[in-house]
Amino acid sequence: MLSTSSSLAAIRSLVSRDLADTNDFILTQLATNVPFIKELGEHILKSGGKRLRPLLVLLSAKLFQYEGFQHTALAAVIEFIHTATLLHDDVVDGSLLRRGQKTANALWGNEASILVGDFLYSRSFQIIVKTGHLQAMDILASATNRLAEGEVMQLLNVSKTAISEANYYEIIERKTAMLFSAAAQMGALLCQRSESEQNALASFGKHLGMAFQIIDDLLDYNSGAREMGKNPGDDLAKGKVTLPLLYALRSGDAKQRLCIEKSIVTPHQDHFAQVVEIVRLTGALDYTRDCAKAQADKAIAALAEVPDNDYRDGLIDLAHFAVSRDF
Ligand code: IPE
Ligand code: IPE
Ligand code: MG
Ligand code: MG
Repeated sequence: MLSTSSSLAAIRSLVSRDLADTNDFILTQLATNVPFIKELGEHILKSGGKRLRPLLVLLSAKLFQYEGFQHTALAAVIEFIHTATLLHDDVVDGSLLRRGQKTANALWGNEASILVGDFLYSRSFQIIVKTGHLQAMDILASATNRLAEGEVMQLLNVSKTAISEANYYEIIERKTAMLFSAAAQMGALLCQRSESEQNALASFGKHLGMAFQIIDDLLDYNSGAREMGKNPGDDLAKGKVTLPLLYALRSGDAKQRLCIEKSIVTPHQDHFAQVVEIVRLTGALDYTRDCAKAQADKAIAALAEVPDNDYRDGLIDLAHFAVSRDF
């Protein structure tokens, strides 16, 4: 069986030229008269990152045989928006490791991360305006707005063990899935495809994003810093009650529930190890993976009526990758 990184590499190879162009474009768009912005921006943008959202834009453009030049600019814009959210998210989450490197907030402080995040958001506006594509602007503006709502909703739910699964899904739809949805829709939009095809791609992206975030939340309890490039345990340390924890709280016994509740209030490395064990014992890992799989299945089902070609297969493979990934 292919490793998850080689399956991602195979999907990338479908659009390798355009991905390289997008990467070049991303780096040129960091140009500014303030050298520090470039230094911090390059730190995060050159440190890897799976480039999944640009990949989605490019695959969806090629799915509909796009022949123009705007897809790479839009792919870059979405990566800029994503990167800005990561800079802000690492401040909010107090995270010190990302993409296998110290986070910008760990190296330069919270203020610098927030302000350079703002630079990336505003640079995104500038690039979108240059494309002159009003509908793309509309979709991306809405997705970014939803994303901010999702992060705030999550903040308001910190340390709340009573949140429902519906609450959790509402948060991840906003904070992650809407940007995936916008990315997947871009190709259909650029090719002026029918509304039903645009909706199909938007729905594919949304469910893919849900699956992706559910697995991200699983990996926080079931992976290591070396594989993920992030520190496990960050969610618990910040009192973020994600799907694995929700399930463990629901199906654990009284003692296990108490241990989780205590760990949310007073995070500690020893507590984390205990919670990981409870998550494992209650079957929360399997449950969480099944939920992600259900979302990936919905994503794939959304592609039933779109052209059947290598790019569609690539999108389907991406949905499998989202569930099986270990990084
Ligand atoms: C991290 O996204 C944030 C989430 C939505 C879980 P990615 O896992 O796509 O981050 P990079 O870009 O590959 O580092
Ligand atoms: C995703 O949430 C972040 C955004 C959508 C901004 P997480 O906080 O779970 O992402 P990681 O785990 O830090 O990458
Ligand atoms: Mg985070
Ligand atoms: Mg996470």
